[in-house]
Amino acid sequence: MRTIIEPFRIKSVEPLRHTTREERERFLEDAGYNLFLIAARHILIDLLTDSGTSAMSTEQWAAIMRGDESYAGSESFFRLKRVADDLTGLRHMVPAHQGRAAERILFTVMCKPGHIVPSNTHFDTTRANIEFTGARAVDLPVPEAADTQAQLAFKGNMDVAALEKLIAIEGEDRIPLVMLTVTNNSGGGQPVSMANIAAVQAVCARHGIPLYLDACRFAENAWFIRTREPGYTDWTPKRIAQKMFSYADGCTFSAKKDAFANIGGLLCSNDDRVFQQETNLLILTEGFPTYGGLAGRDLDAIAVGLEEVLDADYLNYRIVSTGYLGRHIADHGVPIVEPPGGHAIYIDAARMLPHIPKEQFPAQALAVELYRHAGIRSVEIGTLMFGDAAQHELLRLAIPRRVYTQSHIDYVVEAILEVNEHKQNIRGMVLLESAPSLRHFSARLRPLAS
Ligand SMILES: Cc1ncc(COP(=O)(O)O)c(C=O)c1O
Repeated sequence: MRTIIEPFRIKSVEPLRHTTREERERFLEDAGYNLFLIAARHILIDLLTDSGTSAMSTEQWAAIMRGDESYAGSESFFRLKRVADDLTGLRHMVPAHQGRAAERILFTVMCKPGHIVPSNTHFDTTRANIEFTGARAVDLPVPEAADTQAQLAFKGNMDVAALEKLIAIEGEDRIPLVMLTVTNNSGGGQPVSMANIAAVQAVCARHGIPLYLDACRFAENAWFIRTREPGYTDWTPKRIAQKMFSYADGCTFSAKKDAFANIGGLLCSNDDRVFQQETNLLILTEGFPTYGGLAGRDLDAIAVGLEEVLDADYLNYRIVSTGYLGRHIADHGVPIVEPPGGHAIYIDAARMLPHIPKEQFPAQALAVELYRHAGIRSVEIGTLMFGDAAQHELLRLAIPRRVYTQSHIDYVVEAILEVNEHKQNIRGMVLLESAPSLRHFSARLRPLAS
């Protein structure tokens, strides 16, 4: 059969609420044209993020009932540890309340002012946590990644020559670890090849620098390796994931992505000394090492999710359905970051709306129009979010896992194509006020007069 169906049926449903265009216009005005400030009940299809928004399975809900809420030595922890150990092969694991908590602990232990942490591309919380310690976060994506239209099988790869050069210039003592984000979220949800992971590891090993994976979307990355990299077609996703982790000395992980959990994170490492320091810090801010700021039931939901996510039918559906959205809008003239990523489609708003300069936030203007037109929430990743550091003006449509069906995605396609038809009428935005940092959460804007 050519049709790839959702590999699940639906047992419990949540109603979606339609709003009128007039109501949405009012909600926009009240929220200062900032979609973060619109109440979720006023959103029809929410593509703000794929993080913590997954639908859990019957097995996960059943596991939640098994949750052991003991303060220390909970059975839930040991169930999670067994699954994590089998997957990563890393000696030590502690839970944390989400990915950024694992990041904060890792970088507090490993980084000092003057240090440099290279990555293919750091996610924004990763960068912020590194820079909070006084160290510098450096992105070393392959140069082709800068071109949103370049068609590359592994556009999330790190530039290995640039890494070698950085180590030669700065000295290995100033680089406490190297990170690889799989898949590369800030780089368009693009995958990293096994060959690239191996090449980065070889450079790290030569210089005695540990390699960490930011493994939020490890299973989606494994599926791209299986379908795009020669030699892996017959491998199970789990075996590919295990091989990816075999190159790493540690990892951070947000269970809100590829573990279908609504909350949670993990920090894993092979280094006994680092792990001891991490545990001390964990107790200070997250909790005892066998629960790490989570309830026992959360640990069980993550344990089950980590196994479910490696199901080949699920991964095939996931990557094909994200690609379906991307292809259906790109083939009708909407410029996206090519090729479609794993968890999200990114519209290149600077290309789509060339009449709106970046100082007038073209991707935000597009996000507002998509909500006004069809009640769809997306997120600007451009000058509003990053200020002058923005490299592109992107609108991200992140797809929650197992939440929306084919007809929801068809509705999104139709809405985007309709917006594309009247794109010349979309006006830029003026920023009225915002907090100095994280301004995309607090910004208030207004549309420019036509
Ligand atoms: C690549 C990447 N790293 C880290 C994080 C942080 O994880 P969390 O949101 O659980 O703190 C995210 C979240 O979106 C992410 O996409």
